[in-house]
Amino acid sequence: MHLEPTPQNALDVYHQLVGLVTPRPIAWVTTVSPAGVVNLAPFSFFNTFGANPPVVVFSPTNKRDGSQKDTLRNVADTGEFVVNTSVAALAEKVNLTSRELPPDQSEIELAGLHTTPSTKVKPPRVTESPAALECKVLQIIPVGTGAIAANLVIGEVVMIHVADEVLDEAGRPDPRKLQTVARLGGDFWCHTSDLFELKRP
Ligand SMILES: Cc1cc2nc3c(=O)[nH]c(=O)nc-3n(C[C@H](O)[C@H](O)[C@H](O)COP(=O)(O)O)c2cc1C
Repeated sequence: MHLEPTPQNALDVYHQLVGLVTPRPIAWVTTVSPAGVVNLAPFSFFNTFGANPPVVVFSPTNKRDGSQKDTLRNVADTGEFVVNTSVAALAEKVNLTSRELPPDQSEIELAGLHTTPSTKVKPPRVTESPAALECKVLQIIPVGTGAIAANLVIGEVVMIHVADEVLDEAGRPDPRKLQTVARLGGDFWCHTSDLFELKRP
């Protein structure tokens, strides 16, 4: 199979990309609207790209009708967000919060979750998640226009919270305890329990 991306086949291209670039970690992002409503949604177009300063990027793409998602509007309006960690015990709730609700309704209540105030930003953390990154927006870069076009939200991590129970003896996140889940193509997700170790050469 060979496919040359064009604006007309963006949906086919999307399905190829998300099926091939796998597994993708899932940022479970809390934001606050200017009216004060807490929004929560998962984003697997997500990663970290450096530590000095610590940087994360995620992409709330344009909707199929070309309009913006609530999360993008909120980060543009307020300049702040929190990345909560998506772990196996919360996978169903992470998925539930991807439902499109009107901007005045909160996914927190929909999923029966709770929030803990952040220390440096206004959006709260998800209490049930064992780790969270408080972030301030450095830059938002729209790439393209129309359906499924990317909007790169570049954030600086200003505070890191990790529950002691998921740390190893050295005080670092232990993947065997944290048990993150990740996104593959279609509706497939994966666990991170099938681990192996390779020492750096
Ligand atoms: C696991 C998972 C990962 C997702 N990743 C993305 C993503 O990277 N970008 C995106 O725009 N939507 C993604 N979605 C869909 C959004 O979560 C969904 O559009 C949500 O309603 C956006 O919420 P908002 O309008 O409150 O911002 C994902 C959904 C799931 C279940």
